[in-house]
Amino acid sequence: MKIVVISGGPRKHGRTAIAARFIERTYGYHTLDLSVMEMPMYTGEEEQTTNPVVKSLRQSVLEADAVLLLSPEYHSAMSGALKNTLDFLSSTQFLHKPVGLIAMAGGGKGGINCLNNMRTVMRGLYANAIPRQLVLDPSVFDYDRDGLTKEAAEQVDGLIEELKMYARVAKEVKAQQLI
Ligand SMILES: Cc1cc2nc3c(=O)[nH]c(=O)nc-3n(C[C@H](O)[C@H](O)[C@H](O)COP(=O)(O)O)c2cc1C
Repeated sequence: MKIVVISGGPRKHGRTAIAARFIERTYGYHTLDLSVMEMPMYTGEEEQTTNPVVKSLRQSVLEADAVLLLSPEYHSAMSGALKNTLDFLSSTQFLHKPVGLIAMAGGGKGGINCLNNMRTVMRGLYANAIPRQLVLDPSVFDYDRDGLTKEAAEQVDGLIEELKMYARVAKEVKAQQLI
């Protein structure tokens, strides 16, 4: 099963990148890291369709059975980097595709606005954002090990199990041509 992770933090050494690296190490999923990819600013100009970074993004998401989005909450929304990247995509890549959502927050009950924002945008792309979602506060990171605490790792695992379940269902529904 192909799961693609989009790490939507613009900071190379940020917590979003730590969480994405942890998931890549633990599950071996292909990660599109927006802190290193040279994603142009979306302009809608025709020439952007031949940009190799844009082409590779579109192909990776198209081929994925499910997508996991990670974003920091910036000013009560997803990062601008992630929204810009999603603007290059459409229902061509996302129609009925299960999507898991994880937000990094500053603590003090942040994160929910980022999750809601990602969920709204996923609906706009006709994706299937799964019910389970997760906020990772600064306190759940294991900075020495470049990873997550055991409890947070278990929560991530629960989310990924649910994402895989929806991906299996989506595959079956497609195979039976029910949609
Ligand atoms: C510009 C900016 C805006 C932020 N806005 C929020 C916010 O609205 N709610 C929140 O909980 N945390 C907010 N934070 C804190 C970040 O979400 C938190 O530090 C997160 O771990 C950042 O992820 P990163 O390290 O990958 O950048 C903000 C941080 C920055 C830099």
